[in-house]
Amino acid sequence: MSSSTRPARQGTALLIAVALSAGSTAAAPKAEKGKVDPARPFPPSYITIEGHKNVKPEDWKDPRLCGQCHTVQYEGWNGSMHSNAFRDPVFQALWALGEKADPNLRNHCGACHTAIGTATQTVEFVPTTPLHGGFKAPEVAEQGVGCDVCHTISGTNFNKTAVLEHGNSSYVVAPGPTKRAGLADAKSPYHDTAKSDHHTKSDFCGNCHNIFHPTNDFPVERTYDEWKYSVYAQNGIQCQDCHMVPVEVANKVADTMTRPEHMTDSPLEGFAALGGPLRKVVHTHGFIGGNAVIVKALGKDKVESPEDLGRDKNYGEAVKRLKSAASLHTFVAKKGDPLHELTVKVTNERAGHHLPTSLTEVRQIWLEVVVTDDQGREVFRNGTLDASNEVPKDAVVFNAHAADKNGQYTQLPWEIARFTDVNTIPPKGYKYARYYFNVPADAKSLKVSTKLHYRSFAQQLADLLLGKGAVQVPSIEMATLEESVELSELQTASAGAAADKH
Ligand code: HEC
Ligand code: HEC
Ligand code: HEC
Ligand code: HEC
Ligand code: HEC
Repeated sequence: MSSSTRPARQGTALLIAVALSAGSTAAAPKAEKGKVDPARPFPPSYITIEGHKNVKPEDWKDPRLCGQCHTVQYEGWNGSMHSNAFRDPVFQALWALGEKADPNLRNHCGACHTAIGTATQTVEFVPTTPLHGGFKAPEVAEQGVGCDVCHTISGTNFNKTAVLEHGNSSYVVAPGPTKRAGLADAKSPYHDTAKSDHHTKSDFCGNCHNIFHPTNDFPVERTYDEWKYSVYAQNGIQCQDCHMVPVEVANKVADTMTRPEHMTDSPLEGFAALGGPLRKVVHTHGFIGGNAVIVKALGKDKVESPEDLGRDKNYGEAVKRLKSAASLHTFVAKKGDPLHELTVKVTNERAGHHLPTSLTEVRQIWLEVVVTDDQGREVFRNGTLDASNEVPKDAVVFNAHAADKNGQYTQLPWEIARFTDVNTIPPKGYKYARYYFNVPADAKSLKVSTKLHYRSFAQQLADLLLGKGAVQVPSIEMATLEESVELSELQTASAGAAADKH
């Protein structure tokens, strides 16, 4: 059902839902039942509409329109993961598998990836799209998490959720002339403005960046929770302070625990709009995380839409952010003759949440270690991608291992009942990895080369979602360390004790 064939809207949200379901077999099943609860109109999502109004896609404006006066924000947002939140083919494919497993997932997934499509119930499933099927929606809904989605959010429903916390799209939408953000004195010739403290806090992001299972309530993605119990939250550092500023400023925030607005050299001065006054802090809108894959994986050449799945700038920024996040330290100890132990300490220096965060059951951060001796012999190797571009089974991977209700491994979020193993690195925290190997008797020194790699998902998952061989999943080097070790200087000490001194 495209927007042109959608029935005219009248009456309450209830009537709309019924009318929509009558018009199409592809409408979400909750709507078909016709029991719309105005306090939770699109379950299992927690989106509500202010004043229980009857909304239509045209109530939200096209980001390109906002971009006419807010050029900087538009440039940052365009090509970002937020702009691709609906079109992202990885998301579409997994959503399609979810739709086939349980159609109630449409509102669940849709609520964060297309708030507009969900609040207007205009998302349509097209089962015939190649591979798993795909989704369509009116254009403004396909623009994902756009300007007007964020800037007309008027509140949070966190206290109505099953876990009494921000998450599962716990926000109130109020599309219309009032645009909300952190400025108290903003005046625009085009729209009304309102100061919103919510927009200046992590809580705002947490409405979408915290996911619990819609039926068993298991916390599947916990970026907001991880932040909330971190040293950053204790120091008043918000998501915005790292993700709405250039990477260099974010690094300074993490290193000094100072919010950008309190930095003396005013690194973010500029104009929030054409015609507006000079402001001390203007927020960047690229929302750069770690996702460099979507860009690379799909090949820019094939992308034609204006929201061209990530442009060079966003790709480069994502790589920079990943490279700033962690540090490596290594310690070699002699355990006996010829057994040696290598300890690698990985510290989460600058991520305001765990490393990795969110889809921890899918994201891969792992160590690659290569030890050679002074005669060029390879003494030890671990964590090098195999011939099928997979992380080998014996590698040290920082992620979570998910299981379904029968305890079987799963990577499908709707099947997750628990994590059997969690090996993510908390903010400012660290983890050790230990390796054992024999050193040839005639070796005098060792070269220890350690790399920390990141990639968004395994090759096998890309093959499942996008088709076998459709993309070669790229990896980004987050950190590298090369160290030389004189074997004669090694003490037979416990590496743990050595490591703890550092
Ligand atoms: C005709 C120009 C124009 C257009 C088009 C426009 N704005 Fe604005 N907007 C402004 C000006 C000017 C300001 C005030 C800037 C300031 O005071 O620094 C502003 C301020 C804002 C603020 C700050 C509100 C606050 O109180 O913090 C937000 C948010 C905003 N606009 C969002 C949008 C969105 C979303 C759109 C598209 C639906 C949009 N704007 C379209 C000119 C425009
Ligand atoms: C994911 C949500 C999100 C999206 C999408 C988004 N913004 Fe923002 N925007 C924010 C938040 C949050 C703030 C306030 C940050 C703060 O004050 O801490 C903000 C601030 C602003 C401001 C006020 C000036 C400033 O820098 O504080 C303007 C103007 C603005 N955004 C315009 C836009 C436009 C135009 C778009 C689309 C091109 C857009 N925003 C997309 C979340 C968003
Ligand atoms: C509460 C909001 C929310 C809900 C509900 C939600 N997502 Fe997401 N999703 C996100 C956010 C936020 C991210 C980005 C996290 C990141 O990249 O680290 C994301 C990322 C993803 C990605 C990764 C995309 C990529 O290119 O790597 C996939 C795939 C995905 N979601 C699928 C789904 C599916 C399928 C569902 C429903 C079963 C779903 N999501 C439900 C908020 C949500
Ligand atoms: C309306 C829901 C929503 C809100 C509000 C929201 N996000 Fe997102 N965000 C998403 C979704 C969905 C994605 C993932 C899109 C995808 O991968 O397909 C995402 C992606 C991101 C990414 C990119 C992740 C990556 O892998 O590179 C970052 C960073 C991010 N968001 C930060 C924020 C911050 C900071 C805020 C608060 C100022 C915020 N978001 C508010 C829904 C939201
Ligand atoms: C101190 C700075 C800092 C703060 C605060 C912070 N982040 Fe991040 N974030 C990072 C860094 C660095 C990365 C890149 C490493 C990574 O992927 O975890 C990142 C990555 C991400 C990603 C991409 C994860 C992935 O690999 O898919 C998302 C999504 C995200 N942040 C959202 C948030 C949200 C939401 C908040 C607030 C609840 C937040 N961040 C707070 C620094 C920060």
